[in-house]
Amino acid sequence: MEVIHAVSALRAQVNQWRRQHQRVALVPTMGNLHEGHLQLVDVARQQADRVLVSVFVNPLQFGPGEDFDRYPRTLAADTEALIMAGADLLYAPTLREMYPRGAAPVTQVCVPEITETLEGAHRPGHFDGVTTVVSLLFHQVQPDVACFGQKDYQQLAVVRRMVADQQMPVTIVGVPTCRAEDGLALSSRNQYLSPQARARAPGLKQVLDRVAAQLRGGRRDYPAIETEALAALVEGGFAPQYLAIRGPDLETPAVAARAWVVLVAAVLDGTRLIDNLEVAVDMG
Ligand code: PAF
Repeated sequence: MEVIHAVSALRAQVNQWRRQHQRVALVPTMGNLHEGHLQLVDVARQQADRVLVSVFVNPLQFGPGEDFDRYPRTLAADTEALIMAGADLLYAPTLREMYPRGAAPVTQVCVPEITETLEGAHRPGHFDGVTTVVSLLFHQVQPDVACFGQKDYQQLAVVRRMVADQQMPVTIVGVPTCRAEDGLALSSRNQYLSPQARARAPGLKQVLDRVAAQLRGGRRDYPAIETEALAALVEGGFAPQYLAIRGPDLETPAVAARAWVVLVAAVLDGTRLIDNLEVAVDMG
């Protein structure tokens, strides 16, 4: 597997693949790879001849006081993991390579409306940073396919909207969330949890499961379900930021809805965790 840091070398390699009529899949990451990322690589391999993984901790998507400085940077271990996973190329650009004039005054790509709720409401500017860097990566790599985890459900929806609005010639593939045996969604931020907090963390998924069971059981009083779930989170030691029942496109669901996504963000012992669960009832 080749490791490339410069966009010129990246373009030369991708152009060579293109001349051979090979399809290219991109897996954008911020590194510190875990099993969830490796599943993205697996899916990418099913979609294309070549799999390119980017590792870049993007300062634009971190707010003031967030964990940009302490975000784990583990390029050597990531390289080993990607060799084992059979990736073809690791693109790990420097900050200068991505933002030659610096990150602050860079041209941004902003998706309206869908970015203003949930994560967007709690992390102002976060999605502008995500769409700006993802658009930049798409311009650099020009992939046929790009794979994103469904754990970041809203991010996936925002990227799909950007691609549709900008008519970008790339197919977006969502990959199901990878979970630990006790249900906790895998995330690089889980390693910030103390052993005591880690033991409590599966409570997040348990609350989502309970909401899912209530929806499947026929409850449609969404605000009451949300209030009860928020109380259960507090009871479990979390400081919830939101728990929302939405339609699959993040719209407010109708009482007659048959499919939903339940999204949650909560702080546990100083670590912010997010998760979500898709729920559907028989359409018949
Ligand atoms: O999901 C992530 O790891 C990041 O938001 C992404 C898509 C790599 C953009 O920096």
